[in-house]
Amino acid sequence: MGSAEERPVDGATGSLREGERVTLSDPKGRRHSVRLQQGAVFHTTKGGIAHDDLIGGPEGVVVRSAGGVEYLALRPLLHDFVVSMPREAAVIYPKDAAQILMWGDVFPGARVLEAGVGSGALTISLLRALGPAGTLVSYERREEFARRAAANVESFYGERPPGWTLVVGDLVETISDGEIDRAILDMLAPWECVDAVAERLVGGGVLCCYVATTTQLGRTMDTLRAHGGFTEPQATETTIREWHAEGLAIRPGHGTSGHTGFLVIARRLAPGVVAPRRSRRPAPGAYGADYAGPRPSWVEPVAGQPSGADAT
Ligand SMILES: C[S@@+](CC[C@H](N)C(=O)[O-])C[C@H]1O[C@@H](n2cnc3c(N)ncnc32)[C@H](O)[C@@H]1O
Repeated sequence: MGSAEERPVDGATGSLREGERVTLSDPKGRRHSVRLQQGAVFHTTKGGIAHDDLIGGPEGVVVRSAGGVEYLALRPLLHDFVVSMPREAAVIYPKDAAQILMWGDVFPGARVLEAGVGSGALTISLLRALGPAGTLVSYERREEFARRAAANVESFYGERPPGWTLVVGDLVETISDGEIDRAILDMLAPWECVDAVAERLVGGGVLCCYVATTTQLGRTMDTLRAHGGFTEPQATETTIREWHAEGLAIRPGHGTSGHTGFLVIARRLAPGVVAPRRSRRPAPGAYGADYAGPRPSWVEPVAGQPSGADAT
């Protein structure tokens, strides 16, 4: 890579530089990721492509192998990088990361907490949205996952972003002091971390939990209600439907996204403030005798069942 002056830290534009990764797409749409090195050759079944033909030139060009096959050369986008980077744990896909950035209201300069880090897919998007003035503290309890995430982040940015701190440990046991503006939990049991995060989150701050199953969804929603210090949580799922549009042939494409996860969003109330009593009644039977999870304080108690935060 070039010097710090000549290499934009992220979203690189301008001439292609040695050390950068480019994607070469062949006429069948097959993609090959290549790190540019002076004097190196990318070998194809139809002859080689000299890296020197790309270094110093513009992005978005067509290069020809010695055997005459044309390849389109483009820098990988963040989206491309995340779906193809090495991973140790399931990653948050771009469609959900995009929702987290918007509904989690991640802004440049924010103080953000994230757990767990897994392979670092969301971390990379958060760091980009936060910009150089923001800070991100990422907690991951498995050391090998943290190592993988650090390698992915450094591979994408070409260095460890200065505003990023990676903590190896359980969030509840290692959470640092200090206020945070936004918190994102992507883990099996986010409800176990709600109290710890609530203590650090500023009034008006946003908590965003990403969970895979309906069981986790229900437990997360009711834990937030039972906590009492959050607004009514909102749950969403995002699907993307591709469309085919060619002349008169306009129809839904074959690529509709399958289920990945649910997003739960709630805002922290100021310290000591309790969420106003909800006027809307819960659906009949929602918190009946068979329900054994956390109970919001405004739900009529059922004999033998704990209520409010005691139930968490
Ligand atoms: C699904 S992965 C996270 C994926 C990540 N968000 C990404 O986009 O690549 C969940 C991670 O949470 C970690 N984890 C679970 N509970 C945790 C806790 N209480 N504190 C810290 N890390 C935790 C797990 O070790 C696992 O690596």
